Amino acid sequence: MAGNNTFYITTPIYYPSDKLHVGNSYTTVAADAMARFKRLTGYQVWFLTGTDEHGQKIQRQAEAAGKKPIEFVDEIVAWIKELWQELDIAYDDFIRTTEDRHMKKVAAIFTRFYEQGDIYKDKYEGWYCTPCEAYWTERQLAEGKCPDCGRDVELIAEEAYFFKMSKYADRLLKHIENNPEFIQPPSRKNEMVNNFLKPGLEDLCVSRTSFDWGIPVPFDQGHVIYVWLDALSNYITALGYGEEQSNFELFWPADVQLIGKDILRFHTIYWPIFLMALDLPLPKTVFGHGWLMLQDGKMSKSKGNVVDPRVLAARYSSDALRYFLLREIPFGQDGIFSLENFITRINTDLANDLGNLVSRTLTMAERYFEGILPASTVAGPGDEELRNLALRTPGTVEQAMSELKTSDALADLWLLVRRSNKYIDENLPWELAKDPADQPRLGTVIYNLIESIRIIAVLLKPFMPRTPMSIFEQIGLKGNSALQSWDSLSNWGAISPETIIQRGDDLFPRLNLQAEIREMQGEKAVSEDKEEKTANEEEQQGLISIDQFQQVDLRVAEIVEAERIPKSDKLLKLAVLIGEEEKRQVVAGIAEHYEPAALIGKKVIFVANLKPVKLRGVQSQGMLLAATAQDGSLSLTALERDMPPGSRIS
Ligand code: ME8
Ligand code: MG
Repeated sequence: MAGNNTFYITTPIYYPSDKLHVGNSYTTVAADAMARFKRLTGYQVWFLTGTDEHGQKIQRQAEAAGKKPIEFVDEIVAWIKELWQELDIAYDDFIRTTEDRHMKKVAAIFTRFYEQGDIYKDKYEGWYCTPCEAYWTERQLAEGKCPDCGRDVELIAEEAYFFKMSKYADRLLKHIENNPEFIQPPSRKNEMVNNFLKPGLEDLCVSRTSFDWGIPVPFDQGHVIYVWLDALSNYITALGYGEEQSNFELFWPADVQLIGKDILRFHTIYWPIFLMALDLPLPKTVFGHGWLMLQDGKMSKSKGNVVDPRVLAARYSSDALRYFLLREIPFGQDGIFSLENFITRINTDLANDLGNLVSRTLTMAERYFEGILPASTVAGPGDEELRNLALRTPGTVEQAMSELKTSDALADLWLLVRRSNKYIDENLPWELAKDPADQPRLGTVIYNLIESIRIIAVLLKPFMPRTPMSIFEQIGLKGNSALQSWDSLSNWGAISPETIIQRGDDLFPRLNLQAEIREMQGEKAVSEDKEEKTANEEEQQGLISIDQFQQVDLRVAEIVEAERIPKSDKLLKLAVLIGEEEKRQVVAGIAEHYEPAALIGKKVIFVANLKPVKLRGVQSQGMLLAATAQDGSLSLTALERDMPPGSRIS
């Protein structure tokens, strides 16, 4: 029986029928984040992933590629392992179903089932969906097609072995009813119970004779074992089930078996029944997460409309891709993948919120304290709130993770990131820096910010393994495992004054969405036709033409009205003249830098052809240009000479 302090988590084993897409990567990244989180909080973790290499689908694909099945899968498996390395997937074991350690045990399991009377031989006639490797009866088909994926099915008539599913159905139903945590999230339970268990389980065909890429039935060589019986067993064969002295004793039953909702039926009906037939305990939780969708539907390897995770990780960093995947699929629902969503997340959450917090704070620590961490001596606005939130956040993150709500966990952590940025705005350190009498308070503000950044970095480790390492290095904690530990989070004030702070490169440079979309589309064209991309085009990536620039209508604007927007510390409502009869109303995020009255009469540079938007319910018809410095200070753009409102700028 598995120990209390152990944690066993698995992903599905993927079909190496083609390269994986960002959807498959989602499951593995989520499992990795969970495994890392459990390691951080002191568990002995075993994290298993792998590949599901047998079956008709793989055999056909190998034939189409003119390769032997094993050669075909070897190449894709090598690609998959490189992908996991690039995404920092720290698995403890990678099982391939073509490995001896797996095949021998599956053959033994099949024999045992046969000998104890759970498997019998009969004639089979029915429908098979090769992409899903699933059997269907006439009645289960949806308008003659596979009810799961909607593709064509094939009529099969052969002698085959059957597993007596019905024998275990009642026991399974009871188990599901008595163990609410078995199928998660709870919404998935009813679907399984009402659609499959209650109508009565049919016996499952567990062998095939029409192809041979599989594990032979040991006592009847013309048959190969059904690929799902083969594949599901991986979760125990990889632990060394049936061997003396193996990890099996330590880690089975699994704590979490993470899968996509597409394969819930296999994992909450067939798999537990196979385990019951082996007299083994069932996994504590089978968690069926939602899908990452493209705007026009579900991703799948066989559809071909895939997004290559290795291209994305190479261009935007694996941390950014991991963050996006873990943040974008809300608990129990589907999320949308688009380059636009991805870039927007990078710019808002990573560059603006986290990146700015670190770079502003470290810039000030260097500028005002020569990079030597000051002590906290003088209390002031926001201190208590920041400290309390920082001390509370580990608990909220842990609670969310205990239910695999990675998106909620990150949202909770970002409350602390944003609260820390607000703390800067509340304390205006650059103002404190003007008066030597405020030096102790300025030091306290910087100390509190660094301590908050340390806590954020510790909590970030499971989700984004690289960024925290860079942060620890910048705040002088490289290699300081005590202050990077979970235990240190209950101790606000753990980092010592006089620690050496050294600002490094920005964590996440802001990206230009339009440029990224253009370049990524360019990149797609390149892989389709390498010849087309010339050196000249290469040089021009990221640059815009004069025509593109002139699409922006820049004008001189005179500010004629200005007032605060109620309940907003950042926004002002302005009216400007731009050479048109009507005034333009604009909302500008400059309230922390300018008093409304001081703005009247100023002439500034204005973007006149932006699509109107509403901010806080107030219509904004344009934008004032302003410069922002690293420390957060801001200046509107002024003109060198006085010019009439409406003058064009080009
Ligand atoms: O089903 N969004 O393998 P598979 C989120 N070999 N997750 C997705 C996804 C998407 N768009 N697309 C795929 C198999 N996945 C079997 C499993 S296990 C004993 C055998 C993820 O390569 C999700 O976890 O088709 C889904 O369950 C899995 O990839 C299917 O991978
Ligand atoms: Mg699939």
